[in-house]
Parts: sequence; C-alpha cells; structure tokens
Amino acid sequence: MTGSWWREAVLYQVYPRSFADGNGDGIGDLRGLIDRLEYLEWLGIDGIWLNPIHPSPDVDWGYDVSDYLSVHPDLGALEDVDRLVHEAAERGIRVLLDLVPNHTSIRHPWFREHPEYYVWADRVPNNWRAVFGGPAWELDSASGRYYLHNFAPEQPDLDWWSPEVRSEFDRILRFWFDRGVAGFRIDVAHALVKDRELRDDLPATEEDHPHTRAEGIRRVNSMNRPETHEILREWRVLADAYAPPRVLLGEAYVLDVPAWARYYGTGSDELDLAFNFALVHSQLEAEQLRAVVAETEASLPEGAWTCWIGSNHDAGRLATRWCAGDETLARCALLMLLTLRGTPCLYHGDELGLTDGEVPPERVLDVAEPSRDPCRTPMPWTRDGGWTEPWLPLADTTHNVEDQRSDGDSTLSLVRDLIAARRRLPDLSHGAYEEVPTPPGAWAWRRGGGVVVALNLGERRVEIEPVIGTIMLSTDRNRDGEPVAGRLSLDPAQGVVVECS
Ligand code: NOJ
Ligand code: CA
Repeated sequence: MTGSWWREAVLYQVYPRSFADGNGDGIGDLRGLIDRLEYLEWLGIDGIWLNPIHPSPDVDWGYDVSDYLSVHPDLGALEDVDRLVHEAAERGIRVLLDLVPNHTSIRHPWFREHPEYYVWADRVPNNWRAVFGGPAWELDSASGRYYLHNFAPEQPDLDWWSPEVRSEFDRILRFWFDRGVAGFRIDVAHALVKDRELRDDLPATEEDHPHTRAEGIRRVNSMNRPETHEILREWRVLADAYAPPRVLLGEAYVLDVPAWARYYGTGSDELDLAFNFALVHSQLEAEQLRAVVAETEASLPEGAWTCWIGSNHDAGRLATRWCAGDETLARCALLMLLTLRGTPCLYHGDELGLTDGEVPPERVLDVAEPSRDPCRTPMPWTRDGGWTEPWLPLADTTHNVEDQRSDGDSTLSLVRDLIAARRRLPDLSHGAYEEVPTPPGAWAWRRGGGVVVALNLGERRVEIEPVIGTIMLSTDRNRDGEPVAGRLSLDPAQGVVVECS
C-alpha cells in the first residue's frame, strides 16, 4: 500500500534506560540514543519503538505515567525528543513512542483531580484478577471506595466509557504526532474498555491457549471487550489525517490468533500492526512455528500486516527463551524473524545474540514476579560494556557491538546482511508466504516466488527439494554463494536464504 513505510520496515525496540547512557549517570537516556543513531543507521533499521519516556514514579518502569506530555528527567527533556526525531529522520529512521492508555500512575494528577476518569465500585464487585497477582480492586482510603487496577495497585485503570478520557487521549496523540512522532506502540491495546456492568471474568477451559489455561482465567470482561475496537477505529482516523499517516502498533496480547486478528478491524480501519504473541509463546520448533504462521496467514483480514518479535522487555530474550543460549539456534531464529511475511521488530541486543542477564535478588527492580529484569539489562557496547555503574547489572559482555561490528562472521553481521537483503530483494520484504514441503524438524517457505527460506530446527540432517538457485545467506556464513541444483541439504541448527533461479 503506498505510503505505508512500515510494511517494508524493520523496527527496533529501545528500552531507554538500558540502551545508551549520554551523561554517565548509569541510566540510558535520549542523548545516549541520539549518539547511537549512527549504529542504528549502519544496522539498517527503519524505525525505533521506545518504551515509555514520560515522567513516572517507575513502579512499573514508565508504564505508570504521571504526565503524558513531557519527558522523564532521567531520560532527557522535550527538546531531546525533538532532536531525536529530527536526527533520526536525517538517517532515514522514524521514531515511535509507547502510549499507555489503559492506566495511569496513581500519582497522575487526574487520580485526585478527576476521579471520574477511573473505574470505581463501592465494594469489590467481581472476580477480576490483576495481571501482577491478587485481586484487581484496591481500597482507596481517601474515598472509601475501590478502584480497578489490571496491573499494579499503583496503576489505576482509566474508564474508557468516559468521553473526557477519550478527549484527553486524542490530545495526547495529537501532541506527539504534531511533533513528528511516527506512531505509537499501544500498551495493552486489547484492554481499554471494561464491561459496563463489571461482570465476572470466566474460568479458563481446555479450549484456551495453554498460557491462558495456566492463568486459570479467561478475561472477557476485564479485558477483550468488543467496545475497545471503537476506540482503535477513532485513533485510526486521527492517525490517518497526518502525512504520512501515523502508525498504530498494538500490544494486543491475545494468543488465540483469530481473536487477535480482529484488532486489525477490516484490515485498514484499526491497528496497522500488532505483535504476534502466539509466535512468542511457541517453542523454536518447526511444527509449532509453522502452525502459528499458517494460522496468522489464514486469520488476517485482507491488507493486514503482522509484526513478528522474538524478544521484548517482558517476554525475555529469544537467545535464552527459544535457544537456551545456543547461538547457532539464535541465528536461525533471527533469520526466521527477518524473512517471514510481516514487519520484524528486533529488541536491542537481539542482533548480538544477547541472552538474558543475571540479576541478583538484592538488585531486582521489577514489580512483577518472576522479575523481568534479566531481559532489561544494559546493552553491551564494548568488551567492558561501555557503561559506568549501570542501573541494572550488565549481562554477558562477550557479546558486544564493538567486537561483532568488526567481525564479518558475527551474529550482528548476519542480522545486518539479512536487513540489507530485504532491501535488495523486494520478495523478501513483501512477497507472499507459501509453505514448501520438508521432512520433520525442518521448515521452509517461499516468498513471492523469488526466494526460499529453509531452517533445520531438528536434530538430523535434512534434504529439501526441489530448490534451485543460489544460497544468498546462511546462518553459519560458510555456505553463502553456494549453488543449489535441486536438492538443498541442511545440518541441524542451520538456516539459509536461497535466491531462486
Ligand atoms: C505491557 C508492558 O509491556 C509491560 O512492561 C507492563 O508492565 C504492562 N503492559 C502494564 O503496562
Ligand atoms: Ca543517563
């Protein structure tokens, strides 16, 4: 679709506190990020998504916003956002911010000045559970009433039935879009509207995704209400009034793929992109991954475009979660993310094959249990990390930018070459997806007729045919340029991109 830059883009998630520190206080910030734009341009990404940068008491590290229209002093100031947007644009990179519309910080002035913006009950009205554990209702001693919090008690949920709340957020969206922000990642985009009668959620059943079953609850009234689609449609209109249209990338955390796909509306009137969490929750195993992709292809409405991720600041890093630290497997996972049909979003550090860090109990800062801090540790820039006393301990610095940038065989070079290949071969970024038959353990697909991608995630060598062409990129690099004359053989934990002839 013309003008939809993000369809052919590679996005890159920056967790601001852990990316790069511009003033040496141990906390990553906007200046640090601006200083690293050269690296991001070299890597070849097209857009950055920044986790929340607003003032916040940081109970949930920025996801408890106390002022949506300014910048957390630890991270910089409004002028730094302007400079970031401007300097990124000069390098062909767009900037997406994180919109947190489901809840505010309890310290947001609205909570006292506009209590009617929130969801209240005189007594605990239902069985709703907070995602971080315990009941979702908390007694407010000042008013003697209970307020709703789907996450921490310090994150009261807004009442999206309120027209004032809707207008406030229209203003917030416009404020940032007017400053040149390219779009928003929308936090818990599936949760905004609550059941008007506050009816109970349902028990999970055998039909639910294993993750939902493990939680024991199917959130049909505290989240996932159909009325939320109306808000997404309104935002779509607002975002489309800009040139270029601003992007809405939803964290619609829904694991049932057809239900998740509904957040795209007709395909052009709700979200532009939504993270595909069904893939995140699969194992790195051919059958499971193939099934998610097939179901995604079958469920997306005409024109809709998915966003593939393997890591983020909640789910953990793919090199640990999918690959148990095995870098050859991590390379397969990265090759997959960058060659499926859709927009890939890398989490900073993915490109190095970085694993989750270790955070000793006395240094844990996360409100959730188990703590998500291991996947939020600072980006290793050099062999000694390149940080002075960072806010979270540095993970393994043997995986660092400096070493990998100068090594043509590194994971970083593979990722950069894959991103460049997407530019060179349009089929790789927007060609149709078609499965290619493979023996068990392997998974292969054609993109638009010109490219075949094949992965061997099993334990035995496999042969896939017919494939005719030249290996353009291989995960272990020593097969780059090899001709394939019908039969493609792959060792375990090996993946290739073949340019077909
Ligand atoms: C999803 C965010 O990614 C996560 O970090 C946060 O804790 C919750 N939403 C609540 O805002
Ligand atoms: Ca800093």
